[in-house]
Amino acid sequence: MSMQEKLDQLNKLRQIVEAGGGQKRIDKQHESGKKTARERINELFDPGSFREIDVFAASEDDWIFNNKTPGEGVTCGYGTIAGRKVYIFAQDFTVVGGSLGRVHAAKICKTLDMAMKVGAPVIGICDSGGARIQEGVDALNGYGEIFYRNTIASGVIPQISVIMGPCAGGAVYSPALTDFIFMVSGTSQMFITGPLVIKATTGEDVSMEALGGAATHNQISGVAHFMANNEEECIAQIKALLSYLPSNNLEEPPTYAPVEPSVDKEILVDIVPTDPNKGYEVRDIINAVVDGGSFFEVHQYYATNGVVGFARINGQPVGIIANQPRILAGCLDINVSDKIARHIRFCDCFNLPIITFMDVPGFLPGVQQEYGGIIRHGAKMLYAYSEATVPKITIILRKAYGGAYLAMCANALRADMTFAWPTAEIAVMGPEGAVNVINRKELSEAENPIELRKKLVEDYRNRFANPYLASARGFIQDVIDPRDTREKIINALWNMSTKRETRPRKKHGNIPM
Ligand code: HXC
Repeated sequence: MSMQEKLDQLNKLRQIVEAGGGQKRIDKQHESGKKTARERINELFDPGSFREIDVFAASEDDWIFNNKTPGEGVTCGYGTIAGRKVYIFAQDFTVVGGSLGRVHAAKICKTLDMAMKVGAPVIGICDSGGARIQEGVDALNGYGEIFYRNTIASGVIPQISVIMGPCAGGAVYSPALTDFIFMVSGTSQMFITGPLVIKATTGEDVSMEALGGAATHNQISGVAHFMANNEEECIAQIKALLSYLPSNNLEEPPTYAPVEPSVDKEILVDIVPTDPNKGYEVRDIINAVVDGGSFFEVHQYYATNGVVGFARINGQPVGIIANQPRILAGCLDINVSDKIARHIRFCDCFNLPIITFMDVPGFLPGVQQEYGGIIRHGAKMLYAYSEATVPKITIILRKAYGGAYLAMCANALRADMTFAWPTAEIAVMGPEGAVNVINRKELSEAENPIELRKKLVEDYRNRFANPYLASARGFIQDVIDPRDTREKIINALWNMSTKRETRPRKKHGNIPM
């Protein structure tokens, strides 16, 4: 062959790979509301920046002549998103249903290895029929190799999973091992066993969407962190998330120009109701403190008695954790403990200071909570906050009772700076509960127990439920005007920017699970 003929052959082969499973299957993909792997990559990356790796990888040496599995059902490579290096593997459902065989797995493993080598985030787009049935144990082993790499990369580079089609059986465990899972309503599903197997084994009737769709995993199971109405919205969400994250654990998160908050700080003066039984929207407080438009919520639809996410304060990315007094009075239950503990650990891995807004009446009482292991789950929060060495700044807005006060990053768990609003009530338990215990005898013998209880509750509140007893002992740095909260946090972040904290050497701790 002449050089020109060789170049023509190269171009033809590249076109074959880029055409994926062919127009008929691409049309089917579009008809079902999904884009192809390459279309998704093009939307995600800065124009022209994507570079494919292992373009001609194949499971058959004679693939040039038969071209049955172009690209082996996955497109891999790297490029830039907002100018920053990011790696990607995107399963191509048009080629053998995006199913995972030996070479498909090897391409994903190489992508993960390269991302680790250069310290760049990795995005995995899942759209696959699972293990390629024809490849049997090679496919199984391939999943194992991916799981191992996901685990080793955890805490070193951010790993983002995007479910844009089926993701079933053991295949779900790669996304589950990564930091964040995005799902698209109506077109993505995750489950260990599908509706047919469930019907045969337990007799339950359930649709694919109800079993493992975006709403299910965002609201009920907590497996997914983000939900989008379509793929475009999902891609915008991924780009937003990346804007808060460093490329790896040795880098600081990227900073931006400061922006004034979108909510007027004057609302903070009376946002906390004088009636202790009334709730309010904690997101209003967050938005009156952080840079305008920067609050980006994680797990928005799961365990809504707590709010977690990212934001920027004076241009600096931070992790946000808050109780939500509007839901379950902001109590800590099993699910919110898991949600918060995981967020703390992510922030600590990737050098994001943690700002905690506390208004917590306690752990949620109940037999189901105890049977479900609230002790074990709540312990995760205590462990995660204690273990975290990033700057930790706590603002006590109102209730700070008992173990839940500690679990929301009190001074004892090594909050670096703790501020309380004048509305703060820091005590071992709420006034009603306390009076029931310490004045039980008096109340049972009283002529007018209702009046007496009112008075005792009032006395308790005046004596214990304020920020000054804790301040007197040095558990609170300062009691502040709520309108100064942003300024206090900006200064605390500046102060803590040179924080150094070391821990005893160990292989790893044993976080309660
Ligand atoms: C090989 C597969 C495949 C697979 C799909 N295809 N899944 N080929 N191995 N696992 C092929 C189909 O033959 C078809 O080829 C093409 O992909 C598209 O599939 P369709 O069925 O036409 O698409 P659709 O109707 O959209 O249905 C999608 C689906 C279905 C629901 C995912 O394909 C399906 O149920 N697939 C099997 C799922 C499964 O049981 N996987 C194994 C799970 S066990 P043509 O040539 O017609 O286009 C597992 C273990 C992992 O994954 C363990 C890890 C630890």
